[in-house]
Amino acid sequence: MASQDGRPDRPAPIDVVDPGLYERGGIPHDRFGWLRDNDPVHWHADPDERVPGFWAVTRHSDVVEVSRRAELFSSAERGAMFTETEPADLVLYRLMILYMDPPDHTRRRSMVNKGFTPRMIKQLTEHVRDIAHQLIDAVAAKGEADFVEDIAAPLPAYVICELLGAPIEDRDRIYRWSNQMIGFDDPEFSGSREAGADDTAAEPPPARSGGSGGSSPHKELGRQAAAEIFAYAGELAALRRAEPRDDIATQLLRSDASGHALTDEEFQLFVLILIIAGNETTRNASSGGMLAFFEHPGQWRRLLDDRSLLRTAPDEIVRWASPVNLFRRTATADTELGGKRIRRGDKVVVFYGSANRDERAIDDPFTFDVGRDPNPHLGFGGGGPHFCLGTHLARLELGVLFEALLERMPDIRLAAEPRRLRSNFINGIKEMRVEFTP
Ligand code: HEM
Repeated sequence: MASQDGRPDRPAPIDVVDPGLYERGGIPHDRFGWLRDNDPVHWHADPDERVPGFWAVTRHSDVVEVSRRAELFSSAERGAMFTETEPADLVLYRLMILYMDPPDHTRRRSMVNKGFTPRMIKQLTEHVRDIAHQLIDAVAAKGEADFVEDIAAPLPAYVICELLGAPIEDRDRIYRWSNQMIGFDDPEFSGSREAGADDTAAEPPPARSGGSGGSSPHKELGRQAAAEIFAYAGELAALRRAEPRDDIATQLLRSDASGHALTDEEFQLFVLILIIAGNETTRNASSGGMLAFFEHPGQWRRLLDDRSLLRTAPDEIVRWASPVNLFRRTATADTELGGKRIRRGDKVVVFYGSANRDERAIDDPFTFDVGRDPNPHLGFGGGGPHFCLGTHLARLELGVLFEALLERMPDIRLAAEPRRLRSNFINGIKEMRVEFTP
């Protein structure tokens, strides 16, 4: 029974945000398939019942529309995360590009874009390759590893250090801080072993709605890590101003032709967002990609036979794994979407994990095909102003990592059932034991 504007009077029976669903089986594709076919802009009851529900946007075309119309679907008003951001945090978060709207976003984004052009990123290729091989070297003789902890997790963290020009001896603490800042929604989050959070995290109640909520000991640890990263980035900015280098940090701090440069504080905030946005995403793309190969060994053999497919494979991995499952917006005015009346202030949640399996936009979407080209997936966003800044870097990391794995561990195989992250936001794997010939 639905009211005139499409909202059902009773909570809808279909739940696509229960973190337990994702922990048990990954993205609930059957439920999303039903929604795409029957109710693509669906009024979804809020699982916490503390705040009103939200519009679940599941079709590719609607996710694109919401992403592109940033003036109508705001990231600044109440944030971009599924769970409500606490007001005190919102003030800080709004200074980061992910939580900004145009024109502030446009200005800041154009200042950081220059560090992430294909040319700038290509310069990192050899460094990324060295890091991938070092990580493989560390486990190669053992014949077994935890793919997540030993390879997928450190790779993006070390690459961000490289990108910032951080001294090599600082890698481990940056990695530790990064881990403390992510995975808050899983009581036993992936970073806990390195972060020493096991004791503080003793049996917190599971976060029902996932996202960046979670227990307060985790949050507190995350806040401390954010403060340490902030201070560290301040020192790094001072160092790069005193001793400029041919690196991205120097580039961002130096005035360009139009006189734009990041202030120290903007640089510090940017380092924070890089660590938040660049780590957990890429680690889960690598792990999700590896799992896809275990489940589709024919595609691994295809790559072993033809490395030129490494050009298209990264995007197919991102489509298939959809490491970022959702982001949310807030409607700034009454509008219509997919035939539903959206009211000013309504939460609108776009599901990339669903859009990436939408047969209206993607041929044969349930086939994992490393040669897929074109691949109009939305794993990096729906093409609006917030489209992932790290796209070229993520593609580079995935291409280089899988090239190294094909060469060094061609017979890599799954040794135990992987353990998935309890989160509706990051479609993640927290442990995946693998074996290979030493
Ligand atoms: C934004 C996905 C890797 C930096 C985003 C968005 C998605 C995404 C879905 C939001 C897009 C939107 O709202 O339209 C991914 C995936 C990755 C990845 C799946 C890995 C496979 C990276 C890396 C970095 C990065 C490596 C940088 C080191 C950012 C930043 C934003 C962003 C800064 C915010 C951009 C803005 O608000 O203007 N990413 N990302 N990402 N990503 Fe990524």
